[in-house]
Amino acid sequence: MTRDEIVALDKRYVWHPYTPMRRYIDEVDPFVVVRAEGPYLFDADGRRYIDANSSWWVAGLGHGHPRLVAALADQARTLAHVSLAGVAHGPASRLAERLAEVAPPGLTKVFYSDDGSTALEAAIKMVLGYHRHRGDAGRRRFVSLGGAFHGETLGVTALGGVELFRRPFADVLMRVDFIPPPARDEAPGGPASVALEALVENGRDIAAFVVEPLVQAAGGMRMYSPWYLEALRRACDRIGAILIIDEVFTGYGRTGTFWASGSANVSPDILCTAKSFSGGMLPMAATLVSDKVFDAFLGSPEQAFYYGHSFCGNPLGARVALEVLDVFRDERVMEGVAERARRIDAAFTRMGSIAGTRNARALGMIGAIDLADADYLGRAGWRVHEEARRRGAYVRPLGDVVYIAPPINIPLDALDELLSTVEASLRAAL
Ligand SMILES: Cc1ncc(COP(=O)(O)O)c(C=O)c1O
Repeated sequence: MTRDEIVALDKRYVWHPYTPMRRYIDEVDPFVVVRAEGPYLFDADGRRYIDANSSWWVAGLGHGHPRLVAALADQARTLAHVSLAGVAHGPASRLAERLAEVAPPGLTKVFYSDDGSTALEAAIKMVLGYHRHRGDAGRRRFVSLGGAFHGETLGVTALGGVELFRRPFADVLMRVDFIPPPARDEAPGGPASVALEALVENGRDIAAFVVEPLVQAAGGMRMYSPWYLEALRRACDRIGAILIIDEVFTGYGRTGTFWASGSANVSPDILCTAKSFSGGMLPMAATLVSDKVFDAFLGSPEQAFYYGHSFCGNPLGARVALEVLDVFRDERVMEGVAERARRIDAAFTRMGSIAGTRNARALGMIGAIDLADADYLGRAGWRVHEEARRRGAYVRPLGDVVYIAPPINIPLDALDELLSTVEASLRAAL
């Protein structure tokens, strides 16, 4: 197909996610990608672009890693799919064992689903079942953080604290209480601790706290210190609430440790993982739980967890996700993160002196900077996007928040090129 044919069909038939379609159809000359390899995307004219956001944070090991491709092909020849309802297969079993090994201590059971949203959706239902089966059905209150993002299904939309995404559905969402997240350099005892403490005082009906560890991603790459996770863990222990940590964005090395919760030494009761979990190859996710949660479902058949998607534990996804863990181990991926993180930090610190920018920040394999009011509907970030595209990098902003979250194993020369491209694009756009 030619580029023009693709664009004609696209504009006629495709409804794009998170895209104002009127403007897209009338004004946008789409980025047509035909191939991807490592940290690069290639467009229909053969031009190469560095994928600054790992294609919505999923290609954590870059695109088309040969070992993942080989694992996928091998598995496709043997068993592409079978339902997991009472059926066992090798990839799902072995992956669950490996996840239990690499997970924060105490997470011993693995429930599979399709993407980040469903991993969280399953967690919500687990929490409600957990309390009901223990004779505490009145505990239905979920607590989330202002500015949080946990996905798209109706249940997890309720957990989201980004007003623009939440408002259209607000009148049908389940009740969730929001507390302010800590500011980046906030220490214990500040407004976030005070708000948490006030809530917990009368918190015996709280079912669960849900949190993105160390960085609120889609809400604008808002970073905070690990002490807050410890405070949440203590609060949950005090009132018997469940702690759900959403590692969908942060897991698999994004913040500098394999799990972000690892840098706080906090074990949640439930951990959700997706995106890099299956190396950007297939939609696949997992909700990891402790025995405490799992055991609550072991009573009568009415207490079973009646939940499961068609592709739950899909052998292709499970086999690739297993290979992702093996690549992390065999290629010592985490050992390369510190140097990459240092370069990202240095570059974003430098960019922080460009007039018109604010709040330059970095954490592990993330660098971010705010423009104007850091508004999601702002256009300044998109001007940087256009400048970067002209220079060979795909930098999709969160409105007026410009950020990078490249593959964890991005080669150093590609990372340096990306950082100087972002800097030049900021200077040109501002
Ligand atoms: C922290 C977090 N949780 C959940 C989700 C939802 O994941 P998915 O888009 O795979 O449904 C996202 C998506 O960006 C996310 O960033």
